[in-house]
Amino acid sequence: MSTENPSRPSEEEVRAGAAGYGRAVLASYDLFVLGLVCRMVWRCPRGRMLELYDRNVGARHLDLGPGSGFFLDRCSYPVADPRLTLLDLNEDVLAKTGRRLARFSPVLLSRDVLEPLELGEARFDSAGLNFLLHCLPGGLAHKSSVFDHAAEYVRAGGRIFGSTVLALGVEHGRLAPRALESLNEDRTMSNAEDSLEELDAEMARRFADYRITVRGSVALFEATV
Ligand SMILES: C[S@@+](CC[C@H](N)C(=O)[O-])C[C@H]1O[C@@H](n2cnc3c(N)ncnc32)[C@H](O)[C@@H]1O
Repeated sequence: MSTENPSRPSEEEVRAGAAGYGRAVLASYDLFVLGLVCRMVWRCPRGRMLELYDRNVGARHLDLGPGSGFFLDRCSYPVADPRLTLLDLNEDVLAKTGRRLARFSPVLLSRDVLEPLELGEARFDSAGLNFLLHCLPGGLAHKSSVFDHAAEYVRAGGRIFGSTVLALGVEHGRLAPRALESLNEDRTMSNAEDSLEELDAEMARRFADYRITVRGSVALFEATV
């Protein structure tokens, strides 16, 4: 945490959460992180997240922290020609995932999700933030501002959804505690204090209609704006 203001992470801490997703990591991400680590370490197969996308993704979709774009590539859209906007702090993510999803001609935007998104008049039917919160520094009370930043651009009745690995309030498998410790140490993740109770409270403060489903170490959430 920054020594100047303990509730607000430093720019360096924010950048560290996105810095790990260079070209080499992205090349193995689908297989290693989403295939192996999700199932074996977090005990939540990636199929559960794909179901979340299938259930919630809209015709105009905003994706925050799209990573390799696996779910956006594989999910079922409600229309043949969905309009996608991808927003990330890491230029490698935008370049590589933009190419992967070129058939949708996605709009690519370099932004820090912890700051207001400044998307002008753009409006979306859905916003996805999958496996994003656990990368963001600052504690859930601070990083839940991402819900507000996204909701500003989602139409009334639209959906906000995603998932995050929690440290507290979930039942971890045998491999998770060690993985959490080392991934927090190298700042790939910043979720050592993230709890189910706090995630629930942050969602309850913002959404009248929301649901959190826990699978292994992962909370899958979905809400109506
Ligand atoms: C763990 S990956 C998740 C990828 C994808 N959503 C998935 O579920 O497979 C986290 C993504 O969030 C991005 N990211 C991390 N911190 C960010 C920030 N402050 N602002 C914008 N993007 C950020 C990373 O660059 C990366 O693309």
